[in-house]
Amino acid sequence: MRSLFPLYSSSSLFSNFSSSPYNSFISSLPLLFSSSHFSPFLSMAPAFEQVPVPQEGETGTETATPHNTNTGNNGGNDGQVGYKSRVTVVGSGNWGSVAAKLIASNTLKLNSFHDEVRMWVFEETLLSGEKLTDVINRTNENVKYLPGIKLGKNVIADPDIHNAVKDANMLVFVIPHQFMDGICKSLIDKVRGDAEAISLIKGMEVKMEGPCMISTLISEQLGINCSVLMGANIANEIAVEKFSEATVGYRDNREIAEQWVQLFSTPYFMVTPVQDVEGVELCGTLKNVVALAAGFVDGLDMGNNTKAAIMRIGLREMRAFSKLLFSSVRDSTFFESCGVADVITTCLGGRNRKVAEAFAKNGGKRSFDELEAEMLQGQKLQGVSTAREVYEVLSHRGWLELFPLFATVHEICIGRLPPSAIVEYSEKKPRLSLLEDSTRCH
Ligand SMILES: NC(=O)c1ccc[n+]([C@@H]2O[C@H](COP(=O)([O-])OP(=O)(O)OC[C@H]3O[C@@H](n4cnc5c(N)ncnc54)[C@H](O)[C@@H]3O)[C@@H](O)[C@H]2O)c1
Repeated sequence: MRSLFPLYSSSSLFSNFSSSPYNSFISSLPLLFSSSHFSPFLSMAPAFEQVPVPQEGETGTETATPHNTNTGNNGGNDGQVGYKSRVTVVGSGNWGSVAAKLIASNTLKLNSFHDEVRMWVFEETLLSGEKLTDVINRTNENVKYLPGIKLGKNVIADPDIHNAVKDANMLVFVIPHQFMDGICKSLIDKVRGDAEAISLIKGMEVKMEGPCMISTLISEQLGINCSVLMGANIANEIAVEKFSEATVGYRDNREIAEQWVQLFSTPYFMVTPVQDVEGVELCGTLKNVVALAAGFVDGLDMGNNTKAAIMRIGLREMRAFSKLLFSSVRDSTFFESCGVADVITTCLGGRNRKVAEAFAKNGGKRSFDELEAEMLQGQKLQGVSTAREVYEVLSHRGWLELFPLFATVHEICIGRLPPSAIVEYSEKKPRLSLLEDSTRCH
């Protein structure tokens, strides 16, 4: 059995944070205490890559920056005064519905956006016999995935995906990752050439040639730029407007990042852009594997110290794995909302943790599929498929010994190891040199 613990010393996780973001945080401390109203967080924000956040009642500029100014099948608006962006949300599950609500509250306030937000709905017939789309448009609520929350009257549910995306120049993708390949294929040549995308999806595709992030899948298949938004974001908490943060990962166009920040930010949802798409996306993807480990620990009643150890080891593996795959990934990203904060919230409260706890309590005798169907009422578990995908990468590249937590989680999920294996270890020495090289600060 492989060792979880000898690999990790806490000092190395924190040793790389003496660079500028940390220093500017220290220098911003006086600001932290000078805020006149709620949100000390907002006054500290300029220390990081914060951009202005629209406040209640504030409107945006009259002329939106046209996004991708290249070609496009419907991109004739470049440079027009008064040009307004149109937003479509592709997906309408728990987080998709909350995203639509956040966006819809902002498009009403910001002049640079059309008020209407289209939301593509994977059509379902409810027990009442009605179509989910009809019920959303009649009640303004997603009664199946976000009951009790008004989305905003400017959210229009649409079961026809081609119709939903055809006019939009800002596309928000938020569906379980296992459906994305099919969705992307169905959208080839159907989206505007000048569209910008953002992915809120946690997960990756593993192909013959290696792992493919969902943002890359979207970019490559649809020929458009794709940013990402990840963070400590349990949808039901944001739905009732409890304060939280998120991170936008962007590739090179800061203006686009600012558009996304404007579109999502509210006084209770603070969004920070960082120029690290892969780092942000891998954080959001990998933390679900750590959450399964935390759930096993909970199911076995191992207590808080063990769970904290699992979170730390998990974060360490997240960083090492991300940097081995993409050398551009920044250490500082792991200290944003998408990193440590998302690990904490998912290990305390997310659905992956919850189902993994039940799995461990049942001694691994009931499958994840069975528990997902019973406990989540149509919502999807991402961690189990992500653990399998990560395992495929690890075995293909000969990295299994370097990532004992990730590897063990998958082996528990498929019944090869018992849940208690999450904290069992041997004397086997991992190949530290490779891991250390990969995690060197840059
Ligand atoms: N829920 C959260 O708290 C949360 C928070 C942050 C990120 N996310 C991420 O957001 C993404 C979407 O999650 P969610 O919570 O909105 O969804 P969900 O799990 O609540 O709902 C599942 C969705 O998938 C749709 N669906 C079912 N079969 C489908 C098919 N064959 N093709 C296309 N769609 C199908 C359903 O209609 C439903 O809208 C995931 O990647 C998730 O990890 C979720």
